[in-house]
Amino acid sequence: MINSVNGKQSGAYELRTNWPPYTYRDYPDIAPETYKAFLEFLETENTSKKLMELQPWVSICDSKCSFCYFPTTATSKAHLEPYLAALKKELDMYSKTKYLQTSLFDEIVLGGGTPSVLSADQMIDLIEYCKARFNTVDDYFIKVTGSSKSFDQHKIVKLAEYGAFQMDMGAQTLDNNLRKAFCLPDPAEHVIEAIKLARKLGMCVCVDILYNLPGQTMESWVDTLKKCIELDVEVDVYALEVVPGTILDRQIKEGKMPPPGDVDYETQMYLTAYKMLTDAGYKAVGHDRFSREPWHFKESCLNGWPFAAQLTTGAGCFMGYFERYSYSNLEDINEYMAAVNAGRLPINRISESTPEEMMRKVMTRLYLRLPVDKVEFREKFGKNPEDAFGPQLERLVEKGLLTIDDKEIKITKLGDIWKGNIAWEFADNPRAKNMLK
Ligand SMILES: C[S@@+](CC[C@H](N)C(=O)[O-])C[C@H]1O[C@@H](n2cnc3c(N)ncnc32)[C@H](O)[C@@H]1O
Ligand code: SF4
Repeated sequence: MINSVNGKQSGAYELRTNWPPYTYRDYPDIAPETYKAFLEFLETENTSKKLMELQPWVSICDSKCSFCYFPTTATSKAHLEPYLAALKKELDMYSKTKYLQTSLFDEIVLGGGTPSVLSADQMIDLIEYCKARFNTVDDYFIKVTGSSKSFDQHKIVKLAEYGAFQMDMGAQTLDNNLRKAFCLPDPAEHVIEAIKLARKLGMCVCVDILYNLPGQTMESWVDTLKKCIELDVEVDVYALEVVPGTILDRQIKEGKMPPPGDVDYETQMYLTAYKMLTDAGYKAVGHDRFSREPWHFKESCLNGWPFAAQLTTGAGCFMGYFERYSYSNLEDINEYMAAVNAGRLPINRISESTPEEMMRKVMTRLYLRLPVDKVEFREKFGKNPEDAFGPQLERLVEKGLLTIDDKEIKITKLGDIWKGNIAWEFADNPRAKNMLK
């Protein structure tokens, strides 16, 4: 059992928090005055000098995984063509603003949901639509998200030929018993087949895998990790979050599923993954990724947080931000289409950060495994991070979770396990108390 990191006990908090503060979970409903202020902001020049990511979402899936909290619509209930028309209209609205006309993108990512429910031609058409309306650097990247069920051979070949750099896929687990238990629509062999084909065609493949699923043994987890390493894929390693309202939440409440393991078990699983993956040459980067692809170490949209921007569009998208503004879109696909077709940006919630909140947000870079640059902090806020957050920083250094030198603040290897909790140490949010037990 792994229960210490560099000689320190791994249990820094009682509960492990796997998401940071300042996410869509806390954005207020959109008010007319914030909408107006946001539109005015979009008519200003983008002076950030940061490269951006363009993320049109297709929040439509051909099945519902029992744990999934994403606001998706079933393929049977969605009409793809009217949805795509609305998505293009929303992209149009943004592309006509001064902010976007003075922005430069280095990534186009079809996200969601499951854009692979579209045909290859529809996916390529959507990417071309973006390229024609937004400024991209010469060597920009295309990534396409999807599920193994809908990424058939024909689509993978066409996307590879078109030049898609990366296929992102929710593998979740390669244990067929668990796949059935969580309503994943196809067997592990099918996932492996899709990965092998994309890799053979030279695409980078990144799969999402989940740990601490009810009933998931350590052997099953190790087996999934081993297979991912053998398949030479990047992995996004997520701890299961049982979200109220999901099928899994109901099943657990009704006693039809056991609850997930406790914090110690979850931590063990994470440390096992960390060891196996870093031993195999992977580096922990971004939110939850382990990567052997050098380009992922310096992804600009991530590195620019929170001073850069990411244009996210489509029903239910919740990761869009423009410097101090963060927003999410209407989740219901029909309400989304109605708003766009009425000529409005289909935003349902938006948050405008004050300078003090921006200062706190900068500290969430630690959650993203990015350093906090002390020079940049001083330039932006006129003081050192130590002057703004002295007691928190002292406590975290003492616990062995952070290191601080003249230039930057970074999380340690032990801090990596608790990066969600660390980010909450700097938040001024009523939830923070619960996140820091
Ligand atoms: C929107 S999905 C994108 C991939 C694609 N839709 C698929 O599943 O094949 C993003 C990822 O979020 C993760 N996810 C969904 N529900 C989760 C939960 N309750 N806890 C932790 N991660 C979750 C899953 O690993 C999923 O693949
Ligand atoms: S995990 Fe992916 S495929 Fe499954 S329901 Fe969520 S978005 Fe759809």
